Amino acid sequence: MKRLGCKEVAASVMDNLKRETELFIGEGNKAPALAVVLVGHDAASETYVRKKAEAALSLGFMHFQYSFDEDVEEAEILGLIENLNNDENVDGILVQLPLPRHIDERKVINAISSDKDVDGFSPINTGRLLIGDDCFIPCTPKGILETMRFYGIETCGKKAVVIGRSNIVGKPMAALLMQKGIDATVTVCNTKTPDLKEYTLAADIIIVATGHPDTIDSSYVRDGAVVIDVGVNRIEDATKKNGFRLVGDASYQSFKDRDVAITPVPGGIGLMTVSMLMANTLEAARRRRA
Ligand code: GUN
Repeated sequence: MKRLGCKEVAASVMDNLKRETELFIGEGNKAPALAVVLVGHDAASETYVRKKAEAALSLGFMHFQYSFDEDVEEAEILGLIENLNNDENVDGILVQLPLPRHIDERKVINAISSDKDVDGFSPINTGRLLIGDDCFIPCTPKGILETMRFYGIETCGKKAVVIGRSNIVGKPMAALLMQKGIDATVTVCNTKTPDLKEYTLAADIIIVATGHPDTIDSSYVRDGAVVIDVGVNRIEDATKKNGFRLVGDASYQSFKDRDVAITPVPGGIGLMTVSMLMANTLEAARRRRA
């Protein structure tokens, strides 16, 4: 097994971004500014949002956080987004997902101005990605591509299987892999695909993003293949101080004696998402100052 750790990849991206941000500010530009909206007190969301804030501040970005209780009204969030859209001092807007049930997630995402949509979740950026136009690429697929580039993993002419069809990972990942210049042959599966192995055993690259532990183990993967594990699942574990441990969507241990390259959890793709958000925020600032 070859472990494709992402700590080094993310650190190298952050180093580059730090240099680029210093140059950008040195040219007389205002620092890139990111606004983050958090609703409720989901522990995982709070952790992600904290990491985003730390990364933004470490690069010298401006960072504004808007936190609301679980029962905030949808109209208040939509009003805030309108203000942020019109705020000259804000370059990027991110609403941490998931939102509580009484708030329409699509409505909120659709309200974010496409030139500040650094998550790349809006219909305009989604459409641009599919067409192959300049856009904000969603952070997790973008981080996967960056990781594959770092490790010299060829995509051209390769068979890629994406397991999962979420709007955040599966769909944009498939759209990205099929683009000219990346040139993979892409199959998109989901947890209801009968005989998933039929697809995965033929794949050169498997991207598993179902949100379910043990979606695949080594019996799903042929020798020489690459597995990108996007899952971040919390499993109760009384031996841990915080009461849980993190596992991916693939059974990592089952690959131990196999000729397979795989990203670990933790220490894998999860580390890339934040740095890609920073890259998108700097890009948003660049475009808005141009
Ligand atoms: N929730 C899980 N992943 C993400 C992400 O990439 N962006 C946002 N906004 N929320 C998320």
